[in-house]
Amino acid sequence: MNISKMALETPKSDLDFSDKQEAKQPSALKMASMTRRRSSAASTCSYSSACYTGSSDEDNVSPRENRQRNSTGSSDFCVKNINAQQAFGRREIEIAEKEMPGILALRKRASEDKPLKNAQIVGCTHINAQTAVLIETLVELGASVRWAACNIYSTQNAVAAALAEVGIPIFAWRGETEEDFWWCLDKCVNSENWHPNMILDDGGDATHLMWKKYPIIFKAIKGIVEESVTGVHRLYQLVKTGKLTVPAINVNDSVTKARFDNFYNSKDSILDSLKRSTDIMFAGKQVVVCGYGDVGKGCAQSLRGQGCIVYVTEIDPICALQASMDGFRVVRLNEIVRQVDIVVTATGNKNVVNREHMDRMKSGCIVCNMGHSNSEIDVNSLHSAELSWLRVRSQVDHVIWPDGRTIILLAEGRLVNLACSTVPSFVVSVTAAAQALALIELFNAPVGRYKSDVYLLPKKMDEYVASLHLPILDAHLTELTDEQAKYLGLNKAGPFKPNYYRY
Ligand SMILES: NC(=O)c1ccc[n+]([C@@H]2O[C@H](COP(=O)([O-])OP(=O)(O)OC[C@H]3O[C@@H](n4cnc5c(N)ncnc54)[C@H](O)[C@@H]3O)[C@@H](O)[C@H]2O)c1
Repeated sequence: MNISKMALETPKSDLDFSDKQEAKQPSALKMASMTRRRSSAASTCSYSSACYTGSSDEDNVSPRENRQRNSTGSSDFCVKNINAQQAFGRREIEIAEKEMPGILALRKRASEDKPLKNAQIVGCTHINAQTAVLIETLVELGASVRWAACNIYSTQNAVAAALAEVGIPIFAWRGETEEDFWWCLDKCVNSENWHPNMILDDGGDATHLMWKKYPIIFKAIKGIVEESVTGVHRLYQLVKTGKLTVPAINVNDSVTKARFDNFYNSKDSILDSLKRSTDIMFAGKQVVVCGYGDVGKGCAQSLRGQGCIVYVTEIDPICALQASMDGFRVVRLNEIVRQVDIVVTATGNKNVVNREHMDRMKSGCIVCNMGHSNSEIDVNSLHSAELSWLRVRSQVDHVIWPDGRTIILLAEGRLVNLACSTVPSFVVSVTAAAQALALIELFNAPVGRYKSDVYLLPKKMDEYVASLHLPILDAHLTELTDEQAKYLGLNKAGPFKPNYYRY
């Protein structure tokens, strides 16, 4: 199969995955694991960007009090400063596009067919250069969208300005208050003469708002696409209580999300974020990674690659065995907390590192979190009278004990790679392509194909997402011969693995 040719020539039918192989979640076990992994309801991670934010970021005027217009006269948006920032944001988006081949290939293949024509999508995601590429792709595929940020700290203001300038109703700025956050989302959901029929969510807040406050609007929704552990967990709760009235696709647990975003993104960005914030030399340092799921595996492997001595903590015997057989010492945190130089949490759980642990860490120990919520490290317990805090750099605090012992806390316990480094665009392209395909699938599915339940991406779509990213890596797939396909009982065009296959 000539992949590069396929990338250029795939016809519309390539986007039709009608021989559905969806694996319906969730088993009781999966539910239990979701429950364990659930983070705090609202996302509170911060997100740094390399892009220009402009001097107006320093002023205190709320964007809500500053009515602005884009160059075509529209004021249907609310961003920090459209005029000063949009050109910088556009540059950021263009840079991201260069590393997002899959989503751009999808845009090119489907732009004539407009598979999202008449889709009216409420989006609630981080707003950065990479998600902007996704948003503009959805528009190119025919959708009309209204968008808000899923996180009050993560918006790249310049990117939001660039989106507003091209007419996308976007309501987001970095440093929103909690009240701003819900106001922005409300502006997306409840808009005159615009009736949403799809939701693209990251964390479940758009779904929750619509379900709770606008039940009539919610009834018209054809499908929900959710990418986060938290949001997926909330969807399963709705299913459990019989309150989910529309089909949803859980992108978070699709192979092309979990094995790529969680693993490769973490593998790349843990080093980057530690380096940028602390200038640490890794070789010879002792590190403990709490949790050996996809994120923990990525972190542990890349830190070892730099010459660190890596310990792992786990609650699950399977993951613990994996860690042991990958050559890591599996320990309890208590056993090594005095000797390690770096502590990384990646569990999706809460209070994995508590005050007792931090009381025993050696001076200079770096403590950071890679999990979704800021509750993995009990940061609240560090806000006590006997400890002093010194902000030494952006996102870097020294927490000092009375005897002078100091721990170095990164990003106040929020997602360190999002706070202290940037996200690899390539891996976001993989997730974004999966999100776009999930929207296309749910929007175009004939009545009855999906019930009011949570589904995984059909296997064929996962394979398609991966195939979109092969040409840029100059990867050449081997094609099954007829004889081989018969021998394995496979269709030559896939799917190539059963739904239960673990990659
Ligand atoms: N930083 C990022 O860029 C990024 C990317 C994707 C996901 N995430 C987040 O990272 C977290 C982990 O994601 P994942 O895909 O690896 O999840 P996962 O469920 O595959 O792995 C988490 C592991 O932590 C273990 N665990 C739970 N409680 C523990 C405890 N008290 N001590 C030790 N181990 C414990 C679990 O057994 C599990 O193996 C989630 O919150 C997820 O949302 C972050």
